[in-house]
Amino acid sequence: MPPIIAPSILAADFANLEREVKMVNSSDAQWFHIDVMDGVFVPNISLGMPVVKAIRKHAQKPLDVHLMIVHPDRYITDFRKAGADVLTVHYEACTHLHRTLQAIKAEGMQAGVALNPHTPPENLEEIITDVDLVCLMSVNPGFGGQKFIERTYDKIRRLKTMINRQGSQAKIEIDGGVNIANARSLLDAGADVLVAGNFVFASDNPTQTISDLLAV
Ligand code: DX5
Ligand code: ZN
Repeated sequence: MPPIIAPSILAADFANLEREVKMVNSSDAQWFHIDVMDGVFVPNISLGMPVVKAIRKHAQKPLDVHLMIVHPDRYITDFRKAGADVLTVHYEACTHLHRTLQAIKAEGMQAGVALNPHTPPENLEEIITDVDLVCLMSVNPGFGGQKFIERTYDKIRRLKTMINRQGSQAKIEIDGGVNIANARSLLDAGADVLVAGNFVFASDNPTQTISDLLAV
């Protein structure tokens, strides 16, 4: 399977969202990555359902919505209505993760779980066959443009082994500090989806940067 590049809209120009969405439409990227932050689970506030809905209006590719919020189960239906295709909740924010994942799937979306840098992938041992996507945070969630945490490689390899051993279909997504220098190694370690925010949107030619990431 070729890797999936998911540009993170957090790094886009919010005053020109339509233009940014069209750039991603016409690029080699396969998904949109959309970061929702509540100022409680993470120390930052980003955007909510109305903005997801506005992106959906122009987006011609799946919306991968990353919820960095407490009580994500309260908003599953709202995000489906706003247009999410993949809905990812944080392991650290879910007391009843199994129930939350079932609720996401019942709404017809793919169910993702994100792990903070301190959370071992082995914590997903009992649930990995119920997950469509595991998002390994390679920075502490809350902000774009942070430095990639090197220990992520080992987590990818351990997670990949678990996925294969259990026959899970889960994709491995890497989120935070992804760039052209680490993309190849991340894919070699077992990553399927690379999220890239600043590296794409702060570059001179975002469309070309997306193609470059796909071609590493
Ligand atoms: C961080 C977000 C990321 C972020 C990545 O909390 O989950 O998706 O936008 O941005 P970069 O690629 O700039 O690290
Ligand atoms: Zn994210």
